Amino acid sequence: MAKGLFLSIEGIDGSGKSTQLAHLTKRLERESISYLLNCEPGGSQVGNLIRKILLDPENPVFPTAELLLYFANRAQNVDEQICPALEAGRLVISDRYTDSTLAYQGHARSLGQSLVNQLHQIACRGTEPTLTLYLRIRPEVSASRLSHQKKDRLESEGAAFHHRVFEAYEALAEANPQRIVTIDGERSEAVIAADIWSIVMERWNQRDS
Ligand SMILES: Nc1ncnc2c1ncn2[C@@H]1O[C@H](COP(=O)(O)OP(=O)(O)OP(=O)(O)O)[C@@H](O)[C@H]1O
Ligand SMILES: [Mg+2]
Repeated sequence: MAKGLFLSIEGIDGSGKSTQLAHLTKRLERESISYLLNCEPGGSQVGNLIRKILLDPENPVFPTAELLLYFANRAQNVDEQICPALEAGRLVISDRYTDSTLAYQGHARSLGQSLVNQLHQIACRGTEPTLTLYLRIRPEVSASRLSHQKKDRLESEGAAFHHRVFEAYEALAEANPQRIVTIDGERSEAVIAADIWSIVMERWNQRDS
């Protein structure tokens, strides 16, 4: 059987990940390509319970507990959802994965990249995306896109925090040019969707080689 392909999509809050995944999954359905969409936090029954704890502004979650909750969610989804789908030859798409933890908890919350990487080894045990789409928008564009939405616990952090997340993504993209493809997310939705489709199809068609 053909191997699956593990793809993640990353970027700061409001960079258009959900918007682009709606375009991508609609097109995959039209082409009858079977996929699993993994959303973080969430993505499984246990994951959705963890998501509620993490995103509720009423919950005073301390940084280390937050980090462990993200990895508990990811470990659950790797075993329950991601590995079985990849073994069945499907396309797995994760809306955020360990790059998000490196950017938000490792860098913006200063818990350190090495701690995040250690926990990643424990939780994910080698289950890594082969392709990561980084939707790049500047923090000020994110702020203006999200200014009229109700903010969750993480989105209501200050501008300095969001700037640190952005910096971390920029550094990750520079350090991992083989895996991370940077996509200019400040263009129109349709233009970005066309770009993403051609990148994903190229990798999908090469997955066995
Ligand atoms: N290319 C675009 N140009 C302008 N606005 C956009 C574009 N893509 C998405 N938006 C708008 O920006 C807002 C945030 O988009 P979206 O929810 O897709 O981002 P996200 O990356 O999923 O955010 P989060 O990290 O909070 O889940 C939405 O109001 C969406 O309509
Ligand atoms: Mg989203």
